[in-house]
Amino acid sequence: MATDDRPALVGAPRRRLAWWQRGVIYQIYPRSFADSNGDGIGDLRGILERLDYLRGAPGSLGVDAIWLSPFYPSPMVDFGYDVSDYRGVDPVFGTLADFDALLAAAHRRDIKVIVDWVPNHTSDQHPWFIESRAGRHNPKRDWYVWRDPAPGGGPPNNWRSSFGGGADPAWTFDDATGQFYLSSFTSQQPDLNWDNPEVEAAMHDVLRFWLRRGVDGFRIDVVFKLAKDPQLRDNEPQRNHDQDWPAVHGRLRRIRAIVDDYDDRMIVGEVYLLDLQQLVEYINSGDELHLAHNFVFVHLPWRASAMRASIDELERLAEPRAWPAWFLENHDHSRVATRYAGGAGSGARRARVAAMLIVALRGTPFIFQGQELGLPDAEVPADRVVDVDGRDPERAPIPWRRPSNAGPGAGFSTGEPWLPLVADAEHLCVQAQRDDPDSMLSFTRRLLALRAGRPALQGGSQRTLAAAQDVFCFLREDDGHEHLLVALNFSSRRVRARVTLPESLEGRGTLELSTHAGRDAAPIDLRTLTLQPDEGVIVLVGRS
Ligand code: GLC
Ligand code: CA
Repeated sequence: MATDDRPALVGAPRRRLAWWQRGVIYQIYPRSFADSNGDGIGDLRGILERLDYLRGAPGSLGVDAIWLSPFYPSPMVDFGYDVSDYRGVDPVFGTLADFDALLAAAHRRDIKVIVDWVPNHTSDQHPWFIESRAGRHNPKRDWYVWRDPAPGGGPPNNWRSSFGGGADPAWTFDDATGQFYLSSFTSQQPDLNWDNPEVEAAMHDVLRFWLRRGVDGFRIDVVFKLAKDPQLRDNEPQRNHDQDWPAVHGRLRRIRAIVDDYDDRMIVGEVYLLDLQQLVEYINSGDELHLAHNFVFVHLPWRASAMRASIDELERLAEPRAWPAWFLENHDHSRVATRYAGGAGSGARRARVAAMLIVALRGTPFIFQGQELGLPDAEVPADRVVDVDGRDPERAPIPWRRPSNAGPGAGFSTGEPWLPLVADAEHLCVQAQRDDPDSMLSFTRRLLALRAGRPALQGGSQRTLAAAQDVFCFLREDDGHEHLLVALNFSSRRVRARVTLPESLEGRGTLELSTHAGRDAAPIDLRTLTLQPDEGVIVLVGRS
C-alpha cells in the first residue's frame, strides 16, 4: 500500500492512534441541542438535521465524534439519567428508528457516536425496580440494595446523596415493605446491586444491544460507584465506602472485554474522584477504561501554576500507554465563560484560552455543546428552575439564529424552549458567529483544524516548560520533526512570557494560532514573546 511508504513524519502517528485519540469529541445534551417538532425540547431528528454544523460540510466545526447524553425512556426526574428502559428512545426524543437514522447519517460523515450508559441506578419506574419493591421475596428484590432501618429507625448507614450538597441520606424508606433502598442521587434513582451477578449480566446485555446497533462506544455514568463496600459500612473521614471499592476494577475489565469483542469501540468513564492517583487506577492497567474524565482539572482555579502542577502530576502518575482526556465543561458544571470570568470581558477571552488548552494538551479533548460559541451560564429565574441540583444554567438551549429574526426560540425551537436561552443570544448565536472570522466559533473551527493537520498535536509527546508566573507553556513534539509551543496567559495583564526553551530548539517560530483576532501571522522571536491579556498562542518552532 502506498500509504505505508509515506514518510514517518506524517504516516506513523496517524497509523498508531485510534480515532478516539486523534480526534475531538463533542458532547450533545439532546434536550438542548435542536428541537425538530416545536415542542420546545431538543430531539434526535434535531441533531440529525444539524450534522452539517458538526462535520462534513463547508464551514463545519470539524469534530470527530459525538457523545449523546441519555435519550432513553425516562420519567425525567434527572432529565434522562433516570432510565426506565435501557433499550429504547423516549418519545420526547423520537424513536429507535430515529436513532438508527442518526447513527447512519453520522457515520456517513465520519462522525463516531458514543452513547451514555447509566449502570449505577435505574429509574424507580424501571420494571426491575417495580418488581423489586413489590415484596421482600420478589426474585428481583436483590437487584437493588435493600436494608432494614438502623436500630433507631433511621437509614442503615451514613452514606449521603450526591445531590443537595451532601445534606440528604442516600437512602429512601419504602413504606410497603418497611425497608430502605439505596439511592445515591434522587430517591427516584435506586442504585442497582452490582454485587448480584444477574444485574451485571443484564447490564452487559444492554451494552451488547447498543454495540450491535453500531454505536462506537459508551460514556459510563458514575462508573466509580459501580462497586461499594458490600458490608455497607459507614463512610469514614479517611475512606469512602460508597464508591471506588476495589471490585470496581474487575467489573470494568469485564465491561471492557465485551466492548473489545467489537471492532474499534471505546469507553470513557465519569470518574468523579478528586484525586489523580485514584483516577489513574481506571486507565493504567490498559484493560479497563480507554479514557477517564478528570474532574480534578475542572475544579482547578484559573491559575497557570495550578494547571501546570496538575498536568505534570497526571503525566507522572499515568502509565506511558494511558491516554488522558481533557474537558472543562459538561452538563453538570458552570460554563467556562462564567466560571473563569475575572474583569470585564475576560470570561469570553478565557473561554478561548480554555479551548486552546484542552485541544492542545496530549490526550483527547471533549467539548460541550455551546462551548464553541463561548456561551456563558444562562440566567434562570426561580419560576423556571427545573433541575434537582442547580444545573439549568449550563443546559440552556443552543441559540442557532438571531432572536430578532427567528423569534424567541432563536432557531432552537419554534415553540417555547424548555429552559431560557442565554441573555445575549442575538450576538452569541451560530448565525451571528458563523461568518465573523473573529468570533469564538471561527476560532474554535481553526483550532480543531489545526489539531487535525498537526500530528504533534494529535499524538506528539508533551513537556511543560518554565515560563513567567502567569504563563503556562508546553511543547508538543512529533518524533523530533515538528515542535509546537503552546503559551497561555492566565492573567488579564500583558506579560512577557519568558519561556525557557530546550537548548536544541531555535528561538524563533511562526504563529499558528492566537486567541486574539488582532495578532498577525508574523515570525515570532520566542525570547521576547509577549502575550496580551488572556491570550493564548500556538507557535510552530523553527523555520516553517
Ligand atoms: C452523572 C451525570 C449527571 C447525573 C448523575 C446521576 O453525574 O453526569 O448529570 O445527574 O450522574 O446519574
Ligand atoms: Ca422536540
